Amino acid sequence: MGDARLLQRAREVVRFDTPELDALIADMKETMRVLDGVGLAAPQIGVGLRVVIFGFVSSARYPGAGSVPCTVLINPVLEPLSEEIETEWEGCLSVPGLRGEVPRWRHLRYVGRDPRGQRVDRTVEGFHARVVQHETDHLDGVLYPMRVKDMRRFGFTDVLFPDQAETFG
Ligand code: NI
Repeated sequence: MGDARLLQRAREVVRFDTPELDALIADMKETMRVLDGVGLAAPQIGVGLRVVIFGFVSSARYPGAGSVPCTVLINPVLEPLSEEIETEWEGCLSVPGLRGEVPRWRHLRYVGRDPRGQRVDRTVEGFHARVVQHETDHLDGVLYPMRVKDMRRFGFTDVLFPDQAETFG
């Protein structure tokens, strides 16, 4: 947080199934794995392209969240499917040591492309929908603290949750 590259609108990917795109995605997956996040957006490693990855089998920090399929999503477009908003805690690998309560659409459809250019089209809800909204925000230069409505619900992870580690991307 504070790096100008996190505040810019990332560009659409126009060429799929290329060694460059595959190398970017491999780098992102390795970064997310090492930092133990559940999602990551390309601008977080300094690349201004509309590429996000997310997914996990289980998260120690979100034991009730259930799994989210490991996904590479390119040029995502989000469509809320109801008016329902959920407010839950989020963190971010680019905002280390902090967490805040963020309102997000509960029901969401997202479309985009996979690394080969094949269409992705999913209808999701809850934590899965939250992760996609968080990561797609990164492509538009939005960090989750900008969406915290009640700043009393924003603070240091180790103070708020003494027994939990970092998560998200
Ligand atoms: Ni993030």
